[in-house]
Amino acid sequence: MPLTNISIKNFRCFESIEISLSPGVNFFYGANGSGKTSILESVFIFSSGKSFKSSNLVSLINQNSEKFLLKGFDAKKGYIVEVEKTKEKPISILLNNKKTVTSKLIKEFPCTPIHNNTFSFTNASPDFRRKLLDRSIFIAEDNFSSNWFSYYRALKQRNSVLKNHRISDIYAWNEMLVEEGTKLDNYRKDFFDKTLKEFHTLLEILKPYNVFDFFDVINISFFQGWDNEKSLLKILEENKQTDIRRKTTTSGPHKSDIKFLIKDIDAKQILSRGEQKFFSILWSCAQHEVLKKHYRIDATLIIDDIRSELDDRVFNLFKKLLEHNENQVIFSCIDDCFSSKISSNYKDFKKFHVEQLR
Ligand SMILES: Nc1ncnc2c1ncn2[C@@H]1O[C@H](COP(=O)(O)OP(=O)(O)O)[C@@H](O)[C@H]1O
Ligand SMILES: [Mg+2]
Repeated sequence: MPLTNISIKNFRCFESIEISLSPGVNFFYGANGSGKTSILESVFIFSSGKSFKSSNLVSLINQNSEKFLLKGFDAKKGYIVEVEKTKEKPISILLNNKKTVTSKLIKEFPCTPIHNNTFSFTNASPDFRRKLLDRSIFIAEDNFSSNWFSYYRALKQRNSVLKNHRISDIYAWNEMLVEEGTKLDNYRKDFFDKTLKEFHTLLEILKPYNVFDFFDVINISFFQGWDNEKSLLKILEENKQTDIRRKTTTSGPHKSDIKFLIKDIDAKQILSRGEQKFFSILWSCAQHEVLKKHYRIDATLIIDDIRSELDDRVFNLFKKLLEHNENQVIFSCIDDCFSSKISSNYKDFKKFHVEQLR
């Protein structure tokens, strides 16, 4: 089970609140400025030590205070996490009373946020889709992070060799890049294949509702970052002159991407903003299904302002999706768009009126 209880002190507009979360669907509603985003932001901090909204953590400290303190509790594992940020000091994190670093949090409290800056999976840069995939693999596979860092370190070195025109050193870095890059690529392909399978299962569930007529023709594929007929070594050798001229490594796993096509056209050219947001949610749900089924990891999906961009027909599809969801979802909306009749369709549904929490 993911986080079951959170306590928030002097964080954004909140002085002190305690929230008991459901392991299933959590719905926060309230007027503009009531604190919905702040609550979702606090949950994301347990997963990353970062905000999805501001790069400066000081701005999260309540204006009448010198520090914020967040406490989270996972009842199943019995884990307690405490995150404290004082104006003049770096963030401090205690996991079960022992100091730890932010990079350790994601494995213990994995979560994916979808909010205004990142709602569109299809319209974002390849870097965004790669990061989303890598984040889940990082949670799932213990050796992925050392592999990831080794690859990107080698890439940085190779690019620096190219910039400084130390051409004779390229071969040594090619070898390292191939070794780590091949491993990295295998991790990604494997996780992508599993996600795609779950994605199609979700599409099948939603198909009878007839919302999109392109369900059958949507084609999602993984691009590894170079011509898949060739080995990475061959590509690095073939691209040598181009790389020297452009002073950078032009092909490799750092260029990988997930391609969404509808009848051979990039999906971003076709989908409305609401549909794009819905596909981001679907893809994230599929990744979470993989974590749950293949790795027995419970991840949380955070969706801020669910109704923005979604028209009624897409929002109704989201409601259907929730009926089949087994992971923790925490989302927000200005209005109470879940009557008690609708919410009885969901297992473990919990609704919070944010104004009443304060
Ligand atoms: N550091 C802070 N101290 C006090 N109030 C803050 C701080 N940061 C943001 N706020 C206020 O918190 C309120 C809630 O913001 P937010 O969570 O974004 O609301 P919502 O998502 O419900 O519209 C806003 O009125 C905002 O101005
Ligand atoms: Mg908000």
